[in-house]
Amino acid sequence: MEDITNDEKCGMGGGGGYLLPHPPIIYIKFNTNFLRIRDYSKALFDHMNNTAFYTALICEALNLDEEEIELFITGALLHDVGKTKISNDILNKKGPLSPVEWLEIKKHPIYGVKIVSDEYKVLKDIIPIVRYHHERFDGKGYFGVKGKSVPLGAKIVSIADAFDAMYMIRPYRKALDFKAVIKEICRCSGTQFDPYIVQTINNYYGFYDGNDANINVLKEIIERGKGWLNRLLEWNIPFDYVNSFSLLLDRLINEYYVSVLFAKNPR
Ligand SMILES: [Fe+2]
Repeated sequence: MEDITNDEKCGMGGGGGYLLPHPPIIYIKFNTNFLRIRDYSKALFDHMNNTAFYTALICEALNLDEEEIELFITGALLHDVGKTKISNDILNKKGPLSPVEWLEIKKHPIYGVKIVSDEYKVLKDIIPIVRYHHERFDGKGYFGVKGKSVPLGAKIVSIADAFDAMYMIRPYRKALDFKAVIKEICRCSGTQFDPYIVQTINNYYGFYDGNDANINVLKEIIERGKGWLNRLLEWNIPFDYVNSFSLLLDRLINEYYVSVLFAKNPR
């Protein structure tokens, strides 16, 4: 597997600050359906919200236009909606899944496409994201679609999805810090993830070797996160929707303060 982290000194981007002109359509038009997801599984709902935040960070690194960013964020907010058709017994199972249960899990992109087609018709443009978010660059994903054939939005959401899986604290394992998550994503470049997108993320959010630079990158991401959170609140989106963002930011802020402390007391 190619490792593009090496000792490269990757530069950060300009960091213009993430902006959306108006709320993603899901927040204003589909409250009832969207809330139903939260009622089914709070963990699933939070995961999709967090994935949307990471999707926004990646889109910004890629310098996409606002229309595409909004589409991809909306796709991220619903990418796992098909899991609401899978029983909570399977979704929350503590031990390993049986082959039959695993087959059922693998159907969630297809269930998701059906739900979007039936219940979120106006969002049909996100269907490629929902359908292909488990594809891999090397073609070893759910449907064996590979490389350039995987739609851009699906490739971005796939990285954002992995980001949340690694950054979140789970009862059974220690969460990685932001720097370690970026490194792990870089390690999977060219196999699981599109190398161009990974390189762009690393150029934009990757860390220099000095602690000061680490602090600055984290600070920049926190500022962007706060902007996103404030915008959601300005749009009168209930706090329940944005609670997971708030927790996510708390973690980043904690990481920031630990970095500041470490920089002041170098070993
Ligand atoms: Fe998924």
